[in-house]
Amino acid sequence: EEISIRVGTICDGLSGLEGALLPILHEVQEEFGFIPEGALQTIAKKLNLSRAEVHGVASFYHDFREEKPGRHVIKICRAEACQSMGADDLGDHAKRKLKVDWSETTSDKNVTLEPVFCLGLCACAPAAMVDGKVVGRVNKDRLDRILSEVRS
Ligand code: FES
Repeated sequence: EEISIRVGTICDGLSGLEGALLPILHEVQEEFGFIPEGALQTIAKKLNLSRAEVHGVASFYHDFREEKPGRHVIKICRAEACQSMGADDLGDHAKRKLKVDWSETTSDKNVTLEPVFCLGLCACAPAAMVDGKVVGRVNKDRLDRILSEVRS
C-alpha cells in the first residue's frame, strides 16, 4: 500500500517524459534502494504497460536490483580496461571472501557485491565503487581493507 503510493507519486512526476520508464525505475531504486515487487504493478498501470514488460526492462539493465541490498554495496568494474588490469581476479577474490556470487548479498545482510560496467575511472583500473564512492587501483589488499572496514 505504502509502496504503491510512493511509487505512484514518482510515476506522476515523470510519466510526461518520453521514455518515462527508465527514469521512473531509477527514481524508484533511488528511493527504496531496489525495485520492490509491488512497484512493478503500479508502474505498469501508470504507464499502460503490462507488468511483464516493466519486469523485462528492469531485469535487462544491470543497474536495477529487484532485491533489497545489504547495508553496504560494493561494485567491481568488469569492463574491458579493468579486466585487462586484473578485475576478474579481484572479483573472484571478493566472491570468495564474501561467500557470494555476483549480485548477491552476504548472509548477514551486510554486503551486496555487484558487477558494474565502467565507472569512468579506466585510467585507474581496476576500479570499484564502495557505497557510492569510486575507488581506483584496487588490488586484493586494498579490497581486503575495504571489506574489513565495511564489516566492522
Ligand atoms: Fe573499469 Fe572503465 S573499464 S572504470
